[in-house]
Amino acid sequence: MKIGTRTGDRRGVEVHDFDPATASSDDLAALRRHIYHDKIVVLKQQALDVPAFVALGAQFGKPVAYYEPMYHHPDSEFVFVSSNLDRETGRVGVPKTGAFWHSDYQFMPEPFAVTCFYPQRLPSVGRGTYFIDMAQAYQRLDPRLRTSIEGTFARHSSRRYVKIRPTDVFRPLGEVIAEVERKTPPQRWPTVLVHPVTGEKVLYICEAFTYALEDAAGDALPATLLTDLLAASGQLDAEFAHDNIFVQSYEPGDLVLWDNRTLIHRALHNPGNEATESFRVTVLDEHPLTKEDAA
Ligand SMILES: [Fe+2]
Repeated sequence: MKIGTRTGDRRGVEVHDFDPATASSDDLAALRRHIYHDKIVVLKQQALDVPAFVALGAQFGKPVAYYEPMYHHPDSEFVFVSSNLDRETGRVGVPKTGAFWHSDYQFMPEPFAVTCFYPQRLPSVGRGTYFIDMAQAYQRLDPRLRTSIEGTFARHSSRRYVKIRPTDVFRPLGEVIAEVERKTPPQRWPTVLVHPVTGEKVLYICEAFTYALEDAAGDALPATLLTDLLAASGQLDAEFAHDNIFVQSYEPGDLVLWDNRTLIHRALHNPGNEATESFRVTVLDEHPLTKEDAA
């Protein structure tokens, strides 16, 4: 296994000659360290079937099946499928997922520690992922803005981006919304999270799920404060030109591991409807987040 730093404005590390079937425990420990400290690890030239991909994910934590079964791969509930392919046997997964700034499962009681992303079929151009390092975004905040969020909390909900399922057709919208609120009630996390492994302070908000900020007593803070934080971190930049934003594009065989607590991401989809498919395995590690403000 060879781990190399990357050139140009590409972030993270790149790993060549990694074979999960023969990797040593030292190799896997090194990868885990790089995920937490470099945030992005690109394993090159991987050729894994579904069970091998899930087994690789399990080296970085406990794989979790996505709560909505319509995203599951037919051979493993642990593989989340983003796909626009029309198969004779029917659709697998959901097309064009994640086209908004988010951290996977931030709206859940146990947000994922690590996301393992494995494109299966790439369009000729325009498939990638935008990222923002929210620890860096926190450091770059105007000091007054940083001070104004000390000891505060943010509320998160999936409600704006839950996708209508085939089984929802002909159901009253109010009933569907009530079910969303019941299955995924809003979660409260510190606005500034201390990363449980690196100790970094992370601005833990995202445009997709965060809907309100409040003080320690639970009293609402002005909506403009959340907007200011989203803008300062780069999440409201429709041109993706903000200094905090970087992009990861993909080559066939790339398998990308990222720290889902420090990085937020947003899918970059091909503007046409070229065939595209990707698999994802998400895991919880042994370092749960604390609901208490530790900043
Ligand atoms: Fe995602």
